[in-house]
Formats: sequence, structure tokens, C-alpha cells
Amino acid sequence: MTLQIKTLEQYKEVYQQSVEQPEAFWAAQAETFQWRKKWDKVLDYNFSEPNINWFKGGKLNITENCLDRHLATRGEQVAILWEANDPNTPAKSYTYKQLHAEVCKAANALKAMGIQKGDRVCFYMPMVPELAIGVLACARIGAVHSVVFAGFSANALADRIKDATCKMVICSDYNSRGAKNIPVKQIVDDALALGCDSIETVLVHKNTGGKINWNTELDKWWHEEVAAQSTDCPAEEMDSEDMLFILYTSGSTGKPKGVVHTCGGYMVYTCFSFRNVFQYQEGDVYWCTADIGWITGHSYIVYGPLLAGATTIMFEGVPTYPDAGRFWEVCDKHKVNQFYTAPTAIRALMAKGDEYVDKYDLSSLKVIGSVGEPINQEAWEWYNKEVGKGNAPIVDTWWQTETGGILITPLPGITDTKPCYASYPMPGVQPVLMNADGEEVQGNGVEGLLCVKFPWPSMIRTTYGDHERCKNVYFSAFENMYFTGDGARRDENGRYRIIGRVDDVINVSGHRMGTAEVENAINEHENVIESAVVGYPHDIKGQGIYAYIITQQAVEDEAAFTKEVRAVVTREIGPIAKPDLVQVVPGLPKTRSGKIMRRILRKVASGDVSNLGDTSTLLNPDVVQAVMDGAKVELKK
Ligand code: WT7
Repeated sequence: MTLQIKTLEQYKEVYQQSVEQPEAFWAAQAETFQWRKKWDKVLDYNFSEPNINWFKGGKLNITENCLDRHLATRGEQVAILWEANDPNTPAKSYTYKQLHAEVCKAANALKAMGIQKGDRVCFYMPMVPELAIGVLACARIGAVHSVVFAGFSANALADRIKDATCKMVICSDYNSRGAKNIPVKQIVDDALALGCDSIETVLVHKNTGGKINWNTELDKWWHEEVAAQSTDCPAEEMDSEDMLFILYTSGSTGKPKGVVHTCGGYMVYTCFSFRNVFQYQEGDVYWCTADIGWITGHSYIVYGPLLAGATTIMFEGVPTYPDAGRFWEVCDKHKVNQFYTAPTAIRALMAKGDEYVDKYDLSSLKVIGSVGEPINQEAWEWYNKEVGKGNAPIVDTWWQTETGGILITPLPGITDTKPCYASYPMPGVQPVLMNADGEEVQGNGVEGLLCVKFPWPSMIRTTYGDHERCKNVYFSAFENMYFTGDGARRDENGRYRIIGRVDDVINVSGHRMGTAEVENAINEHENVIESAVVGYPHDIKGQGIYAYIITQQAVEDEAAFTKEVRAVVTREIGPIAKPDLVQVVPGLPKTRSGKIMRRILRKVASGDVSNLGDTSTLLNPDVVQAVMDGAKVELKK
């Protein structure tokens, strides 16, 4: 098994070794996996193209490491424990042996339907076991999965299908989420109506069994295709640097980009980080509440835990259904040992009151984690006291879709914890802070732009179909560095505190959104001439979405207009991107070169206009007063 660090001394030693001899360090981790053929070279890279190769020439299949490898030692152990949306539905479990069989059957079905190594398969599914099974089935045969979060709209889904020219979509009929029943298959039909010509098959998993439209040319039932297949499917031999999956994420400009992860390095890093960050022990039950539609679900529900031979819970529901005690009920019921969730959920549950937590026995919890956005001190203290009871260290894990795995985090029981601090780099991770002049900010007690100066195995390799974009976004801001897009502070002890995005990306309830993307959606409304979107502090969501809009015709009924704008965004992207506040403005503050001065709009949205800075150089300084006069938040001067 991959190394599990146990003491502070060991962390320091291992960290130093990982920096001084990165190849030797990662080779030792990689040795613990099953390879068909060993790699020719541990690391071969340059950040200028970029061209990043880990374990090049090594041959493997990640599912042999997730599944086959465990059959002899833990075939009867539960691999996936599925908890339904409805608390009265019994939990369902798959042992490693059963999961192996189901993955093989699904893999054989995909092959029978013409899916081959390198083909892209899109998933648009709720959190049902078939999602994990399907993803692993792709990996088994070398097909590339592209999971699209099932909360995205038909438009957003169509964009992603087209960008990756997927051959198949796998979906469910419906998605039961809280009290809702969402017509998933209908959304796929709507997406295909937008011209996804590459799709040859829609494989439909029967979930709730509701009525759906059936297209005899494309549609096939999962249960009909999979049931009769053999439980044996030889795994495709993959090169370390063959593509494993694509996952779309938002940037500061343009449409979402497909982040590409490859087989070997991703395998080594997700397993290593999982074992160390959660200190998973034999027999533990681990639960990450994320959706597999996001990177957290890929790395820390599916791949990391299964590689480590863990029991991983997959939860179909939402934190507040049937009530705000659901998370804690599930922790109690399954005696969860490691629990991993997002600050937005913690804040929402905190607001409902302690009685929902106090009802349940949470004494099994050993480690509790946070991910996706900065966790504010109040939420951290509550999580620590009410959920962890002061005994379960909080791991505030900082990472990104692009990093593939957790890069900065405390190690529970090993390094210290401090509210709001993601703290220390993982072994093999070399963070640096840069200033705007492109110089490294040295020493402690400093702030800067967060970069990483040396490759780690699970880092992004390219953005699908557009390598230039990958280079420009991540590798061009600073020479020989990966640029994260985040600002950070390093305290006197060398702990990192993530301050937040320094680009036009906002983080709403832990979901990443490009302001330009939301603006493009808003501009689809027929009465909109121009819009500008910024984030503003929101008690539960972390950041809310504030939209300033110039309209063609005067808006008489503001409430109705706001509703329309929200509907347009829901149609174009999905409900997660809906603006919280909409303000109609006569103009947007612009520089003489015509660039929107977002700094001013952010200040107004935050309610603090005490220090607006110099507005005299604006093309239209008078517009600032109008923007302030119509502000949708109370302004503190
Ligand atoms: C952005 C990445 C990584 C899985 C989920 C989000 C923010 C992430 C933290 C944290 C403060 C955080 C950053 C980052 N972020 N974790 N612990 N503390 N900020 O993945 O959608 O790719 O978003 O989320 O701003 O750049 P993502």
C-alpha cells in the first residue's frame, strides 16, 4: 500500500525528500500499484508547452488497481455503500467482488455497443451506483469519461457533448433529489435536439421508472444491455499518459474548458492523498458528500478510496431532506469515520440549529473535511465543536479540478490546524507566492498569487481540443510555474490561507462559475444590451451572484424582469448560476479603453463603498453614482 505518514517528524522528512528527490519519492509510491509494465521514466516535463509526463511508458489499467487487486484480500468487503435520497429506502452495498462483476458487465455492454479505447462517453446522471459503475466501466476499456453534473441545463450539456464529440450519453430516466423528481432523460433529449451529431447511443438507466420519451434509433436501456453480459472483462492496457477522463470547469473567459487527466499519475496521487489526508484505516467507513459531477467526487468518492481499498459511501440526496439532520443521521447509521463536505453545506446546516446534530451519535467520526471554498471562522468553529466534538481534526483541503487531488491541507493528528487555513503542502507539492512583477515573494507573513513550481502526478495535462488555452491560462502568467488563479497568504509558521480567486471566477456554494459565462447567458434576454456580473459576500453560499444590467427598454416591473433573467440563466447554464441580485443600471463604469471597471462593481455589491478609489479616469464617472443609488444591498459609506 502507498505510504501513510504517521508523525510530524515523518511528514517533515518525507516532504523534504519529495522536494529533493521527487522522482525517487514518486517512484516509491508508484511501485505499490499493479503495473502491466513498469515506466521508462518517472518524470519528463516542461511547463512552457506544457508537456507533462509521469511514469511514461508504464502500462496499467486503473480499474485493475481499484478492483482486481483487492479481490484476493478484500473481495467480501464493502466497496461502495449507497445511501438513497429517501431515508426509508434501504442502503445498498457492493462488495469489491460485486463491484468488479458489475463494472465488467457494464464494460462488456459498452464494448458491445461499439465503444472503443479513446472514445468519449458522457454521463448525465444522479448519484446512483450505476454512475460509479459506468465511469469505472469506461476506464476498464480505455474509454474517456466526461461526467456532466446533472444540475446543468440542456444547453450546457449539449456544449460539453459537442466539445468532446462524445459517442454516447449515459443518463437516468429521473433524478430524485430531496422532494423533487427531475426529468433527466428529457433534458438529454433537449440537449440532443441542439445538434449533438456525434452521439450514437443514449443508454438509459431506469431509476424512478417514470414516463419518458423513447427514441428507438438512439435509446437503449441499461438493464437490458448490461444484464446478460459476462462478469469478466479483461482490462484494456493503457499508457500512463493515456487520457482517463475529461471534466469541464469554468474559467474567467469563454466557455467551460475540458480539463484532461491521465491514467498513471492520477492513480498514484489520488490514492496517496486519500490515505494521508483522511488517515483511512482498515475497516473504516468514509463518506464524501460531493457529487461525482465534480472533481471531488471523481477523486475522493470513486478513484482515491477504491484505489486504497476503502469503503466509500455514495449519497443520492441533499443535506436538508427530509430535514437538516440528514447528514448526521447517515453518519450515525453507518458509523462514518471520515466525513468530507463543503463549507456551504456546513453554513446552511449551522443556520438550522444545533438540535439537528445533537440528536445523533457522531462519536465514530475521526476526521472531518472541508473543500471547495474558503471556510469562514464561524463555520469552522461550529463544525469543530458540534460535529467533530473537538476530537476530530478538520482538514481544510485546498485544490482544484486542474490539480486532480488535494495539494494543501493539514494532515489530521499530524500537523496542527488553524481556522481558515488550508495549512501545509502535501509531499511533492511546492507552492510559491508570486507578486505582480513576476517575482517570488520570499519568507513568511506574506501574501501573493498562488503558484506551484514543480509538477505533481495528478496535475492537468491539457484542455481538451485546445492545448493553447491550457498554456495561456495556467502556464503563461509566470515562467515555469503552474498558476492557480487564487491569492493566498503564508503565515509566520508557513501555513497557507487561501484568500480566493484573483480572476473573474466566482465561487457560489463551492461551485465554480465564470462571470463572463453568466453574462453571456444574461445577454440572451431580448431586453438586455450589456451586463456585468460580480460575486458578493453571501452568508450561506459564500459568494452570491450580483448582475448589473443595461436594458434596451426601460424596465417597469423589476421583479418580473429579475425573474426572467434568472429563467434565462437557468435555461442557458442551470439553476446554480442564477443571479441572486439583479440591478438595472443606466451604464457600466468603463475605462477609456472600454473595459468594465469590475473593481467598482464588486465594491458596490459588497456594500462597502468607503474606498472606491480613483474614478475620475473613467469614461463615464457619473454612472458610479447611479450604480450606487440603485444598489440592491445596503451601502456602508
Ligand atoms: C477553486 C477550485 C477542489 C474541489 C472543489 C473545487 C476554491 C477549493 C478551497 C479551500 C479555499 C478553496 C479555490 C480554487 N477552493 N478548495 N479549501 N479553501 N478555497 O474545485 O471547482 O475546480 O474550484 O475552489 O478558489 O481555485 P473547483
